[in-house]
Amino acid sequence: MCLLSSLSFLALSVAISAAATDGEDSLLVNAIVSRDNISFAECWKVEPGFQISNVTGTVGDQVLALGNMSNALLIIIPEGDGTPNDGGLHNGAHAQWVFALTGGATVDFPEHPGRFSIGAGGIFISTDIIGTSRLGHHTLWDAGSHFIQAPFPDGVPVGHTVVAETSCDEFLAMAGKEEE
Ligand SMILES: *[C@@H]1O[C@H](CO)[C@@H](O)[C@H](O)[C@H]1NC(C)=O
Ligand SMILES: *[C@@H]1O[C@H](CO)[C@@H](O)[C@H](O)[C@H]1NC(C)=O
Ligand SMILES: *[C@@H]1O[C@H](CO)[C@@H](O)[C@H](O)[C@H]1NC(C)=O
Repeated sequence: MCLLSSLSFLALSVAISAAATDGEDSLLVNAIVSRDNISFAECWKVEPGFQISNVTGTVGDQVLALGNMSNALLIIIPEGDGTPNDGGLHNGAHAQWVFALTGGATVDFPEHPGRFSIGAGGIFISTDIIGTSRLGHHTLWDAGSHFIQAPFPDGVPVGHTVVAETSCDEFLAMAGKEEE
């Protein structure tokens, strides 16, 4: 397991395919949150949104500030026999980003409807640390996935607005239906 300590301020170019976007000015990301001891998914819009890079090497590209991170980990899910690796019910270890480099994951909740899945290049946020949620959430990791977990310094999540008290997938499906 590789320990990347103290990633400093990070501004990433986020490919449109990397995660759900609202096609406009920022990234929509699934966030595992908790209320009344129960975990569920919200859809967060990262704030402030995309800017145009002035930095050598990416001039003119869209960049989104993801804020500081601390003690990031690269996690390798075993390939095993190729079946998903059941992470079981658990609380988030930290309030953190989870970036899927390869593979993917599906998250659902023992006491709340809703779920979300991400594929390679997908991102989600987890905040339901011990003490905030009795049972936490349930994660099924795709075999052989590579993930980076990157905790928020002092547990304070990246700037965001809550777009929906459902996953972004459910929010976007709903928005799509309304447009029809
Ligand atoms: C790049 O420069 C422009 C013009 O000064 C500014 O509006 C924009 O915010 C800058 N982008 C970043 C990522 O700092
Ligand atoms: C990130 O950390 C640096 C150094 O401590 C600090 O100056 C900066 O304000 C932090 N950025 C954010 C977005 O919190
Ligand atoms: C959350 O659940 C734990 C474990 O069952 C319990 O000790 C705690 O009092 C609960 N907190 C709230 C706010 O309901």
